Amino acid sequence: MKIAVTSASGKLGASVVKHLINEIGKENVIGIARTPDKAKHFGIEIRKGDYNNRQDFDVALQGVDAVLLVSGMDEPQKRIQQHRNVIEAAKQNGVKKIVYTSIVGAEENNAFSPVVQSNRQTEKDVRDSGLVWVIGRNGIYIEPDLEYMDTYIKDGEIRNCAGDGKCTYTSREELGYAYAKILTEEKHNGKVYNLVGEPITQSQLAECINQVYDTNLVYNPISVEAYKSDRKAELGDFLGTVIAGIYEGIKNDANDVVSDFEKAVGRPHKSTIEMMKVYNAK
Ligand SMILES: NC(=O)c1ccc[n+]([C@@H]2O[C@H](COP(=O)([O-])OP(=O)(O)OC[C@H]3O[C@@H](n4cnc5c(N)ncnc54)[C@H](OP(=O)(O)O)[C@@H]3O)[C@@H](O)[C@H]2O)c1
Repeated sequence: MKIAVTSASGKLGASVVKHLINEIGKENVIGIARTPDKAKHFGIEIRKGDYNNRQDFDVALQGVDAVLLVSGMDEPQKRIQQHRNVIEAAKQNGVKKIVYTSIVGAEENNAFSPVVQSNRQTEKDVRDSGLVWVIGRNGIYIEPDLEYMDTYIKDGEIRNCAGDGKCTYTSREELGYAYAKILTEEKHNGKVYNLVGEPITQSQLAECINQVYDTNLVYNPISVEAYKSDRKAELGDFLGTVIAGIYEGIKNDANDVVSDFEKAVGRPHKSTIEMMKVYNAK
């Protein structure tokens, strides 16, 4: 049984590869990466795969039984065709099972919705592929907040437009564990799972950070418009709008979904505090 992971050079891909190696051994895991050099350190077979290049995947998916399609980073409309390149190559090269990493969120009403819509289109393409399929809808990663800790500490606050909305954070570490199970076990086939942790508000997030990092952060809500301007100024128009849209979605409960994590993978999702401790132990 050979299992391939796309975007193996990225942080989610790396986590899945690590957990898959634990499950089935190095010799059965293939990493596919746009930049193969960035994935060499795993000590597994690495093949080239740029989502823009269908031919790459006709080669990369040879002899592969199951593939994890990690969603791309491009703008929403471009991604649909990029993902189709992988799906079509999988269909034509004898791959039996495809697992897609999608996203939780609202298809309408916030600035992140175009990204969610494009992921839903890929979900449909995966379901229509004729292959055995599984779809995971990932929660928001907790790690970027932890990487942002210096700024939070400097500002003494978490400031965004999520208000009292609850967000079911997960971590790349938890997702890596889940996808390794989903790829190797048959009982998941044909399922759509919300792969998320417990729902928490931004105030609760600040409390968790204070507990683990011994800080005194407070949460200060601001308006969607103010947050959008703030993020665009720091991150540019595209990414700033996307990030502000994510928090707008949280405010409107788009990320307060029921978790399928335990049902899917057989153990409870780690709590927010546990995820922070795991991250810090690395
Ligand atoms: N749930 C969340 O909170 C959240 C947050 C951010 C992103 N996401 C989604 O989750 C995905 C994985 O996240 P991550 O943390 O692993 O991101 P990451 O660490 O930034 O890695 C992104 C990966 O995408 C690869 N990539 C970009 N364009 C590609 C292309 N044209 N063809 C093939 N590979 C390409 C990159 O390859 P190179 O090494 O060659 O650059 C890299 O491996 C993202 O792509 C995005 O769709 C989810």
